[in-house]
Amino acid sequence: MKKPILLVAAMAVLFFACQHQVASPGIPNGGGGNDTTSSGGGITADSLVCFEGDVLPIFVSSCAIGGCHDSKSKAEGYVLDNFENITKRGIKPGDPGGSEIYRQIASGEMPPGGGLSSTQVNLISRWIKEGAKNTTNCNSCDSSVFTYSAAISVIMSTNCTGCHSGSNASGGINLSTYSGIKTVADNGHLVGALTQAPGFIAMPPGGMLSDCNISQIEKWVAAGAPNN
Ligand code: HEC
Repeated sequence: MKKPILLVAAMAVLFFACQHQVASPGIPNGGGGNDTTSSGGGITADSLVCFEGDVLPIFVSSCAIGGCHDSKSKAEGYVLDNFENITKRGIKPGDPGGSEIYRQIASGEMPPGGGLSSTQVNLISRWIKEGAKNTTNCNSCDSSVFTYSAAISVIMSTNCTGCHSGSNASGGINLSTYSGIKTVADNGHLVGALTQAPGFIAMPPGGMLSDCNISQIEKWVAAGAPNN
């Protein structure tokens, strides 16, 4: 009768979700995602993955969060909030399977309580294979495009929904739905937080969005935050 033991073990894993010590078995290179064809963030199959635009936001919104791998909590000594910190330990350029951080996310063990999407896992795998470089300013952003579907929802899912979705959404703010975004657009908190205006909590916590992304959001809010 092993079930109660398993249950206790499972609860312990959940309880210590951010301090787990479980060593993961060898994960085959590129494992974790079933969906090997799609790419994220508007990149195409033959363009390089952009660290700043594609990879960093995943770490910031899914790993560098309070109690886990932010600069304060440093769970297991990992701080995953900027290029230097992310690559100094657990990333082996050119070799996803030899990268401890990649193995944890490809196995779904990290982040606790729900792994990354296969698209996100594949992006990180590709970035490591391409040499885990600090590529910046590589994503084209067109500030004249500011519809909800083409710009706003994409910015939110890249940079914000790791913290702001589901039943535990940070600050009770859900940015994975139009109505959730519309609420903070209309009450001024969205632009206030993004532009770090006095009286608002600066968002995202890891650093500001690009000027182009902020401008897209400001224009959309000024147009009445339509569901277009
Ligand atoms: C790492 C987690 C995290 C990420 C990523 C994040 N937020 Fe937040 N956000 C929080 C937390 C936690 C709070 C609540 C802070 C508090 O109430 O003390 C918050 C609060 C807010 C607020 C309310 C601020 C205020 O002053 O009223 C807004 C608006 C917001 N976030 C928008 C965003 C947007 C937009 C993004 C993406 C560009 C984003 N957040 C990314 C964790 C995050």
